[in-house]
Amino acid sequence: MGFEPPVPHVVMISFPGQGHVNPLLRLAKRVAAKGVLITFTTTSDTGHQIISSSDVVPDDDGIPVGSGRLRFEFLDTNWDPSNGQKASLDDSMHHLETSGPADFADLIRKQSHAGRPVTYVVNNPFVPWAVDVATDMGIPCAVLWVQSCSVFSTYYHYHHSLAEFPTETNPDISVSLPGIPSMTPEEIPSFLLPSNPYKSLTKAILEQFHNIDKASKVFVNSFAELEPEAIDTIAKYVHLIPVGPLVEPEDESRSTLRGDLIKASDDCLEWLDTQAPKSVIYISLGSIVTFTKEEMAEMAHELTTNGRPFLWVVRPHCRELLSQGFLEEVKGRGMVVGWSPQDSVLNHGSVGCFLTHCGWNSVLETLTAGVPVIAYPQWGDQVTDAKFLVDIYKVGVRLKAPVERNALHAAIEAVMDGQEAEAIKEHATKWKEAAKMAVAKDGSSDRNIQLFVDEVKKRVAGDSNGYIQV
Ligand code: UDX
Repeated sequence: MGFEPPVPHVVMISFPGQGHVNPLLRLAKRVAAKGVLITFTTTSDTGHQIISSSDVVPDDDGIPVGSGRLRFEFLDTNWDPSNGQKASLDDSMHHLETSGPADFADLIRKQSHAGRPVTYVVNNPFVPWAVDVATDMGIPCAVLWVQSCSVFSTYYHYHHSLAEFPTETNPDISVSLPGIPSMTPEEIPSFLLPSNPYKSLTKAILEQFHNIDKASKVFVNSFAELEPEAIDTIAKYVHLIPVGPLVEPEDESRSTLRGDLIKASDDCLEWLDTQAPKSVIYISLGSIVTFTKEEMAEMAHELTTNGRPFLWVVRPHCRELLSQGFLEEVKGRGMVVGWSPQDSVLNHGSVGCFLTHCGWNSVLETLTAGVPVIAYPQWGDQVTDAKFLVDIYKVGVRLKAPVERNALHAAIEAVMDGQEAEAIKEHATKWKEAAKMAVAKDGSSDRNIQLFVDEVKKRVAGDSNGYIQV
């Protein structure tokens, strides 16, 4: 009786949100490319959205990626437990915490039965129970933190009461943390403010820190050159390993293997081909943030009168908020899509600036593409990210909420042609080079990914007399 040599097999489990799926799937591709089998999982409904938005045909053996393979297999649990009636965030969170662990343990067991036992688990925030499941089954687990290291450090200090934060009685104090510039209350992640209305999100975020010590390592979607002091100083408590920026690998910039939950309109890339270099204003607020109807009207007014070409992502459920007649007025000069292939859009030579809500994925994507920003943060880490984009990385200007046409006009002109525009472009180019180097072969983050791959392969080799039994 002969045995097949064991295959290094990493299961990556994502919280079912676009801002979580993208960085984990991109890490999955980078690890797979170095000769590892990856199984990517998330909730069943989100998984099916990913598959139906891409051209990928799921196959049990997976898709070849570099010298490895990437396969999809989803949990039995749905994110929305209410059969289509859209459950509240609290209900979905509760359902995921209740059903997720047992279903995840089943999925891991199934891998052994299929002859590909799991060598390592990687999870991202909001599914902290994955660390418990893996540990209980004797499988090492790593966490991928999907926001900045500075934001990790802020939450960590708050959770462990290691610094003073604004309180109801003392709401105006600034927060001073090692390795991070002093932050006003408006600049710390808003979920930590006493006035924050999203208490269940704060709870979910802080939950990560309860069992993070059980994780064998904590990866962060950042790079050593971007946040050197924040990474160094938090190492006193948690050794964060930068593996970012987790953007689409360059040789796959128009890859079909993406994590979109809404099908992207690829025709906007052809439209961008027809525009002048660095002329287009790209507008996108990620997967959650929306403009109000009044803000949409202010946006539409400025985009109509400004005369510059633009590409605006208006997600399908917001399309009815577009001002009447707007699309006809801007026909030929502007394009509105429900979802764009954002990574490719930002890397297109005709994009001149990015009006962004400053979600961390968008931040890293724009830095890697060298595109200046108009920073329009709303809540959570976005407000901290905006501070870094404008004050520290110096790649753009701020726009205050709610959007107002004159302020929007001033921001567009400042970043495209104003006195500061040249300096902003130079900073953007500098970050683009640093970001690309970090993930290029032998760059700082690439070396960290290689070390992880080596460890995974060594575990399998060391275990060659028997698979990890679960
Ligand atoms: C969420 C939070 O809001 C954010 O603050 C946190 O940092 C991550 O989780 P989201 O708001 O969706 O994420 O923003 P972001 O982090 O920017 O992620 C959105 C992702 O969707 C990006 O990777 C972006 O490239 C992609 N995207 C967005 C598209 O591919 N097409 C689009 O049209 C819009």
